[in-house]
Amino acid sequence: MSSSSRYNSLPLVSLLISFFVLSTLHAAASSHGDFLNCITLHSNSRIPIYTPKDSSYSSILRSTAECLRFNSSTTLKPFLIVTPLKESHIPTVVICSRKNGIHIRVRSGGHDLEGLSYAADVPFIIVDLLHLRKVNVDVKNKAAWVQTGATIGEVFYKIAKKSNTLGFPAGICPTVGTGGHLSGGGYGSLVRKYGLASDNVIDARVVDVRGRILNKTSMGEDLFWAIRGGGGASFVIVVAWKIRLVPVPPTVTVFSVDKTLEDGATSILHKWQQVAHMLPPEIYIIVSIGAGDVSSSGKIRKDPMIATFISLFLGDATKHKKLMDDEFPELGLASNDFTEMSWIQSVLVLAGLPANTSTDILLNMPQKKLFFKGKSDYVRQPISQTGIEMMWKRLVDDRQTALLLTPYGGRMSEISESETPFPHRDGVLFDIFYYSSWDEEQDVDSEKFRNELRITHEFMTPYVSKNPRESYVNYRDLDLGQSSNGTASYSKAAVWGYKYFKGNFDRLVSVKTKVDPDNFFRNEQSIPR
Ligand SMILES: Cc1cc2nc3c(=O)[nH]c(=O)nc-3n(C[C@H](O)[C@H](O)[C@H](O)COP(=O)(O)OP(=O)(O)OC[C@H]3O[C@@H](n4cnc5c(N)ncnc54)[C@H](O)[C@@H]3O)c2cc1C
Ligand SMILES: *[C@@H]1O[C@H](CO)[C@@H](O)[C@H](O)[C@H]1NC(C)=O
Ligand SMILES: *[C@@H]1O[C@H](CO)[C@@H](O)[C@H](O)[C@H]1NC(C)=O
Ligand SMILES: *[C@@H]1O[C@H](CO)[C@@H](O)[C@H](O)[C@H]1NC(C)=O
Ligand SMILES: *[C@@H]1O[C@H](CO)[C@@H](O)[C@H](O)[C@H]1NC(C)=O
Repeated sequence: MSSSSRYNSLPLVSLLISFFVLSTLHAAASSHGDFLNCITLHSNSRIPIYTPKDSSYSSILRSTAECLRFNSSTTLKPFLIVTPLKESHIPTVVICSRKNGIHIRVRSGGHDLEGLSYAADVPFIIVDLLHLRKVNVDVKNKAAWVQTGATIGEVFYKIAKKSNTLGFPAGICPTVGTGGHLSGGGYGSLVRKYGLASDNVIDARVVDVRGRILNKTSMGEDLFWAIRGGGGASFVIVVAWKIRLVPVPPTVTVFSVDKTLEDGATSILHKWQQVAHMLPPEIYIIVSIGAGDVSSSGKIRKDPMIATFISLFLGDATKHKKLMDDEFPELGLASNDFTEMSWIQSVLVLAGLPANTSTDILLNMPQKKLFFKGKSDYVRQPISQTGIEMMWKRLVDDRQTALLLTPYGGRMSEISESETPFPHRDGVLFDIFYYSSWDEEQDVDSEKFRNELRITHEFMTPYVSKNPRESYVNYRDLDLGQSSNGTASYSKAAVWGYKYFKGNFDRLVSVKTKVDPDNFFRNEQSIPR
């Protein structure tokens, strides 16, 4: 920002203050005025701030809000949306919010499954990082600095623009933001070869509760440990990550095949559970299961249940096919099932786009927004054939829910449970992401669909991990326990805390107690002191 923008700040802010003086929506209007005065005093350049009266407020609020469940008239809206333009704006926002007792929610990609980055049931403001999305790729040192307003799709794109033999291990949905994703783990097609996105963070710039900008060295080992898997929003605002780029071959291979019950989906899935986590780390085979009418490849389903097996192999089609013929012949693949492409094209294909789509789409992904609710599980013992058959029956009754099964093993088994807060490592065969979605808000059905998902999750109890029943923090699920104002007692929070973090929960609590003793950074499932 040039210093000339400073001269814009006073009229804008006084205009905003006058809105607040008139506003009867929030009793604490004067503290909002104090907040805006504080921002003007502390910042030497204009920080764009939107109130509900601004014409662009709604479009900014909705822009990255991924889940339509929180687009209802009964959801409390932020009384301000603050959109920092540069790193130095963030300390100002933190200092002024804290001074005036203002509750903040930080938003990166807006994919939180419970909307915690843009919805709350106490008065709050959003600090939206949408303007902070620079990605600086350093091919020579195989590293990049990524501001947390950037999506993972933008990171993939910027890497691929500079090199076709470097990539980054992160999720398969390109619109996910780097702020939430990397602070909670983050995995996709390179998980077996290179682990989580957070396993490949080598430095970070954060703003702490005192408004200090810290890096890996100055924040200390404990905090640097906590932000790489402990979940966004409990400790600091992460401004940027330094990530390690990983080698990918110039040619990778993909297949996607549908298997119906008639094709033997039950026994094929049973076999998949035994092989997928044991195969060489260069191969990743996920399974998407659902009872909808149309499969993920767009075919109309005659069968009530389809399991789609999707694979990425870091190598050519010949090697990919040989590996499948040797280790998993039950899938019955033919040569023309395999398609060779560059790694960046595989990002598009795994996101459900045609292989010939221009990669530019990653900078501006079309998003069909839905109402949804998610849950997760970890499987450590193969589910029996009978169990799988019962699961098909349950999914026919819960047609709104699809399951995505991701194999672990490989690199994931080499990293100890306590190396980062993400504990689901050796011994995990695969994880399950339950995703129930519907595209119309009919209050009755919405509640019904969510309950069906809860029943499905309950139904899966005998087949999944126990003591604790593990969950993935990035598939946030408030059914596991919450507190409305982020002040859960330790014992209440420990219920979800051990599911998400196992024994690492206690270290997260001690880091929290040290770095944010007044619990400024909080939400329904933030780490308690
Ligand atoms: C459709 C869909 C597909 C998904 N696919 C995958 C997948 O393939 N693999 C996978 O691992 N996960 C996946 N996820 C889950 C995803 O990783 C998490 O939802 C992640 O937390 C989203 O990050 P975000 O920045 O987009 O979300 P946001 O909603 O912006 O943030 C999530 C949380 O992090 C906090 N936060 C955000 N930015 C910061 C910051 N800079 N500093 C501190 N706290 C911050 C927010 O306050 C909030 O609490 C998927 C989710 C959806 C909805
Ligand atoms: C969100 O709600 C608003 C107001 O009801 C509506 O106009 C808008 O279409 C909704 N957004 C989506 C994507 O459905
Ligand atoms: C981290 O910050 C400290 C203190 O500001 C500084 O001396 C150091 O050079 C920084 N480290 C890196 C790797 O940038
Ligand atoms: C991609 O391929 C399909 C056929 O498979 C074709 O119809 C379409 O026009 C192609 N799109 C582009 C952008 O080349
Ligand atoms: C939060 O809620 C609890 C009860 O759930 C209440 O005891 C506590 O005072 C509340 N704290 C704040 C800061 O509102």
